[in-house]
Amino acid sequence: MEATDWDERYAAAPFVWSAGPNQLFAELTGGLPPGRALDVAAGEGRTAHWLAERGWQVTAVDFSSVGVDKGRKRAEAAGLHIDWVVADVTTADLGTGTYDLVAVLYLHLPRPAMAEVLARCAGSLAPGGRLIVLGHDRTNLAHGVGGPQDPAILHDPDEIAAAVPDLQVERCERVHRETPDGTAIDLLLVAHATGGATAG
Ligand SMILES: C[S@@+](CC[C@H](N)C(=O)[O-])C[C@H]1O[C@@H](n2cnc3c(N)ncnc32)[C@H](O)[C@@H]1O
Repeated sequence: MEATDWDERYAAAPFVWSAGPNQLFAELTGGLPPGRALDVAAGEGRTAHWLAERGWQVTAVDFSSVGVDKGRKRAEAAGLHIDWVVADVTTADLGTGTYDLVAVLYLHLPRPAMAEVLARCAGSLAPGGRLIVLGHDRTNLAHGVGGPQDPAILHDPDEIAAAVPDLQVERCERVHRETPDGTAIDLLLVAHATGGATAG
């Protein structure tokens, strides 16, 4: 989908995604000491908002200006500061050695582009910083519910792990997510950059 498609989708509803964070992401990060965080393909900013509420200094990037505007307004109303960036993550400068946490939630791109974005996300981590990738697994097509139906953009554990060869992988596995329509199968990667102290 192009940025204009996402703009239309975000313009059509007050909030397309839940206002609160993904439950597993909240469990994984709720105990981490706040630092600098990058939310890649932030959408309407549910993850950025939740992190900012917990004291993280957050940069949120998405190529949908409508999604970003919704996130910005919601954060302003809550008195939260988030650095919002409207940009295509396949070309944007994501920084180098900067972030204690990089979140990539439900971003689905064709394989070479996805791998390239994840490699740059890995490069944007400060020493000891953590990358969390969560998205629809390819097996969700046959055995789960919801999500994109194009296998070419769905995640596979081996492909995702291979995209970040310089990181220490803590978890790279399929996880189940319960939805009103049934069980969805997601891919979870948790990995950290070497050097420094890995919190949590
Ligand atoms: C399924 S939504 C997930 C949003 C958010 N991460 C969340 O979990 O709520 C996918 C998001 O990826 C964004 N996106 C897709 N391709 C992108 C690209 N090349 N550059 C920046 N954002 C992109 C879309 O605009 C959309 O907001």
